[in-house]
Amino acid sequence: MQVVRTIREARAAVAEAKAAGRRVGFVPTMGFLHQGHLSLVAAARQDGCWIAVSIFVNPLQFGPSEDFERYPRDEARDLELLRQAGVDLVFVPTAAEMYPPNAVTRIHVERLTEHLCGPWRPGHFDGVATVVAKLFAIVPADRAYFGRKDAQQLAVIGRMVRDLDLPIEVVGCDTVREPDGLAMSSRNVYLSADERRRATALYRALCLARDQIGAGERDVSRVAAAMRRVIDAASPTQVDYVSVVDAEELQPVERIDRRVLIAVAVRFGGTRLIDNVVVDPPPAGS
Ligand code: PAF
Repeated sequence: MQVVRTIREARAAVAEAKAAGRRVGFVPTMGFLHQGHLSLVAAARQDGCWIAVSIFVNPLQFGPSEDFERYPRDEARDLELLRQAGVDLVFVPTAAEMYPPNAVTRIHVERLTEHLCGPWRPGHFDGVATVVAKLFAIVPADRAYFGRKDAQQLAVIGRMVRDLDLPIEVVGCDTVREPDGLAMSSRNVYLSADERRRATALYRALCLARDQIGAGERDVSRVAAAMRRVIDAASPTQVDYVSVVDAEELQPVERIDRRVLIAVAVRFGGTRLIDNVVVDPPPAGS
């Protein structure tokens, strides 16, 4: 496994793999890896790819009062996990390598960023889109793998790639969950034992919504109210949102008459957790 820290070295390694006729799979990460990240690597391996992973805690996607400084980092452990997973290249740039002085270019994806996390994290998706576009330019892979846990991020990146005709296929992979349903996230490490137990309410609320829709419920306000009861019973510090949006444009809907994304963002102590499910309402009469 090659570990490189400069853009020049990363480009050269990918060019060599491509010249050898390899299909390149890319997994961009912010490190502190867990089974969710490793499932993305496994998906790339399943696709027969030569695998590149980036580890970069991107300052551009954190707001001034967010957790950039304390975001968990453990490069040695990450590299060992990636070595064991059979990764070919790891790109670990510094912020100075990624952002030259006076870098002023930002990518903004409209509409898809208007709701859900958009209003709660101003500038976040611009930071994500900008760094991912740069990473795609540095690691010109055939495919890039992202988790569905960050459904809005996945939608934003997919739309950016389509709108800018970037020559890369974006692959969404299922959320990996702990046995009690909590979605894996590097930020779960912030939770106290009690918060960790209460945090299972997110997925329980999402499952309840899916069950209610499966049983014929189509009214978003009733679904959201039932979810809210489950989440409130876990005494969260703050509920940022419990939302039902159409799965394509991420716009709020009042009735569930097409594929929807049901998404929640909830804080326990200082830790903000997100989770979601995609639900297709069964056809009427079924
Ligand atoms: O999901 C993440 O870890 C990050 O948002 C990403 C896509 C690596 C961009 O920094």
